[in-house]
Amino acid sequence: MTDKLSSPSMFIGIKQENLISFGSGQPDMPPPKGIYDILPKYTNFAYGLIQGEEKLRNSLRSEFLNQDADKDNFVITNGASEAIDLTFRSICKPKDKILIHAPYYYSYPPLLKANHIEPVITETIGGRIQIDDVEQKIHECKAILINSPSNPTGRIQEIKTLKEIEKLAKDLGKVIISDEVYKDLIYERENYMLSGDHVITINSFSKTFSMCGFRIGYLYSNDKSIVKRAIDIKTHSSMNTNILAQQMAIEALKTPKSVIEEQRVRWENRRDTIYKGLQDLGLDLWKPEGAFYVFPKIKNPRKTVWELYKNHDVITYLGEWFGSPNRIRLSYALETDKIEEGLRRIKNYINNT
Ligand SMILES: Cc1ncc(COP(=O)(O)O)c(C=O)c1O
Repeated sequence: MTDKLSSPSMFIGIKQENLISFGSGQPDMPPPKGIYDILPKYTNFAYGLIQGEEKLRNSLRSEFLNQDADKDNFVITNGASEAIDLTFRSICKPKDKILIHAPYYYSYPPLLKANHIEPVITETIGGRIQIDDVEQKIHECKAILINSPSNPTGRIQEIKTLKEIEKLAKDLGKVIISDEVYKDLIYERENYMLSGDHVITINSFSKTFSMCGFRIGYLYSNDKSIVKRAIDIKTHSSMNTNILAQQMAIEALKTPKSVIEEQRVRWENRRDTIYKGLQDLGLDLWKPEGAFYVFPKIKNPRKTVWELYKNHDVITYLGEWFGSPNRIRLSYALETDKIEEGLRRIKNYINNT
């Protein structure tokens, strides 16, 4: 039966009584209240601009103050997922290569392969990028994809490493794709945003604003030829991004920074609960420094994920989906009492196997 565990899709969006899902990375906190205020007066049902509503692109400029961003540098997309796909297709041709650090977000390799692009892997140690390995492998690649804080490791890259990658890529004429969907969820330090004319930034309203199902994200590039290519592709694929969700995103961006900070503290408390709980069970894991995932080593991961689900109503994800076959991933996007109940069930499972 464990062969059913072919991809996370079997768990995404699933609802079941008594289920504790450490599965999908969907924040349980409510989206900003203001996003609903527009609904009673909302009347627009027409197609929108492929690039995205001007007002939203203008509002996003404040996220890129250090780069003197222009509204024309953005493309509003169906979540970060579409932004990543459009970026791959805008900068690569078939047989090009992109360097990704492992463990990686599970969608990167399938999406690259679907676009006939070859993933080249650089293994991290303790979740940290090894710059020597990047220096060797980047030559054969068109771009390097950075995800810090990382899904699934919860680790952030050192600022020194990020600056080295920024410079290396610039010197060699390589593109950096920076997937920053967890930029507001860092526990250890301020976020360091990779920047420059060779950087394409990916972001989303899914995590910071708990708007996963509304499907709003964007890409940002100083290189307007990349923006143009992305718009050209989107014109013939998904067309405009949902216009109502874009209006909601404009409201979401009005959220005071203090509210985002309050959320971050709640995430940190949850991080502490799950990290200590799994350590107390004797599991070997890294302390998350950002995002909301833990990635412990486990014996028989396939059997564990399957039996936790079938016999204990607990969803976890297989590490092999993220390029790390001896681990499982748990998202702690849950209230603390649910995290504690899930930990009790995992303890029960471990003690009885
Ligand atoms: C690293 C990373 N990038 C992109 C995404 C996709 O996000 P979105 O919901 O905005 O498509 C996720 C979702 O979990 C993610 O973890």
